[in-house]
Amino acid sequence: MRIFLDTANVEQIKHGVRMGVVHGVTTNPTLTAKEGNADYEAVSKDICALVPGPVSIEVLVEGVEPMIKQARLIAGWASNAVVKVPATAEGLEATSTLAREGIKVNMTLCFSLNQAVLAALAGAAYISPFVGRMDDNGSDGMRLVEDIVTVYENYGFSTEVIAASIRHPQHCVAAAMAGAHIATIPYNVLIQMTQHPMTTIGISRFLADWQRLAGK
Ligand code: E4P
Repeated sequence: MRIFLDTANVEQIKHGVRMGVVHGVTTNPTLTAKEGNADYEAVSKDICALVPGPVSIEVLVEGVEPMIKQARLIAGWASNAVVKVPATAEGLEATSTLAREGIKVNMTLCFSLNQAVLAALAGAAYISPFVGRMDDNGSDGMRLVEDIVTVYENYGFSTEVIAASIRHPQHCVAAAMAGAHIATIPYNVLIQMTQHPMTTIGISRFLADWQRLAGK
């Protein structure tokens, strides 16, 4: 399973890349707006330059033709730019055109297996089931990830599954067990994944034991 950071914060992305564990990034209008820079193109290009892998950038318009037009522009911003399009009928229509042009699409806001099957049939490169938002709504978000992975394997679909809307480290464990190709995670979850109290205690004990000898 690869890790993407679900953020538009440049410092967080740089740290994740320095650790050698962050391959790509997913942004959305909410995350980008949080950074306070209204130049969508400039912020997105900066992020694309920081990571080796794909950076998902969402369209900011509705309607098939406007989405296609904006997606073509976004795809031209960087060689690793991936266009995020919602998993709707209009989104599918846009995706099938864009996929035929060789533009990679991440179909976002996926909340059902049917949406995921349609995304694969339309030629999406990625599908993003929103695990945390499903859990918030009383459904089992990770069950959807498992089902998508199973069905994609059944039919040999090449669309990759991004477990999205991740809320805590246990979601990452479950996404890996479910066979998600990618988990896109907030920075705080990445940091939580690195932590274990026994590791912290172990380091203190090792250092204290050595210092006792050194102090003799
Ligand atoms: C995915 O690509 C989205 O940016 C993201 O995971 C949404 O997560 P949220 O439910 O925490 O907003």
